[in-house]
Amino acid sequence: GRVVVLYGGDSAEREVSLKSGAAVLSALERAGVAPIGYDPAEQGGLAGLEALAPDRVFIALHGRGGEDGTLQGALELLDIPYTGSGVLASALGMDKQRTKLVWQALGLPTPESVMLGPDADWPGVVERLGLPLIVKPVHEGSTLGITIVDSAEALEAAYHDAARFDARVMAERFIRGEEYTVSLLGDEVLPAIRVEVPGGFYDYEAKYLSDETQYHLPCGLEAGEEAQLAELCREAFAAIGGEGWGRVDVMRDAAGRFWLLEVNTVPGMTDHSLVPQAAAHAGIDFDALVLRILATAAR
Ligand code: DAL
Ligand code: MG
Repeated sequence: GRVVVLYGGDSAEREVSLKSGAAVLSALERAGVAPIGYDPAEQGGLAGLEALAPDRVFIALHGRGGEDGTLQGALELLDIPYTGSGVLASALGMDKQRTKLVWQALGLPTPESVMLGPDADWPGVVERLGLPLIVKPVHEGSTLGITIVDSAEALEAAYHDAARFDARVMAERFIRGEEYTVSLLGDEVLPAIRVEVPGGFYDYEAKYLSDETQYHLPCGLEAGEEAQLAELCREAFAAIGGEGWGRVDVMRDAAGRFWLLEVNTVPGMTDHSLVPQAAAHAGIDFDALVLRILATAAR
């Protein structure tokens, strides 16, 4: 059957998606699948996609319009199978605040947060969450629009920065400690990766441009702790109804406690990306990974 890879798009993560899509297309070509690459932002949107009559769609779009449930809903209505999570999990995964509400309702650990608006009680937010705190657009990826705020005076400016990316902005308690990410592939939880940015913050630059970011794999946790982290991430993904594949980002504080940050339902597939690294460590090379993800596009 005809496989169409969706990539590019018009979200703020377009550049990342172009790289993910190119890598996925090459892998499928090597596997003899003869995929068709399609950029909905440049090639006629959904109508153009429908005209290609795909049997299956591989979604390599990140962010709004690709990862947020809207595309998934359209594909459901067109009766075209697609990779990864369905409508609800995609929409929830794109919303960092409502994801937290689900986790909190289930008793899963996630840092406390407060929604911000132009008239927020800035000192009240600082009092509640402490400093530093972190300001994030609710629906954005790749760390775009995120600021670590060190002083009460800087909070309002950080809010306005984030508000350029999204109408909904939240402040979150900052967890000082180590950053981990856990990839899920079908029923498998892949080995955790510890991400370390020398002297810094795992931002857009560190994610895609810098060669200084260190990816620790094996992650350095004791077996029992890694198993606990894996189980937490499996529950966190299941809590939002995640399917097929995804990645959960987690902090570990100085006391060794894990805190869930967010779920990515279409994680990056670039050569710097985390899911391919975790898969490789589990003995699944990039081409096999792409085929496993493609196989999640079943009715
Ligand atoms: N949002 C980017 C693509 C990631 O999570 O990998
Ligand atoms: Mg993300």
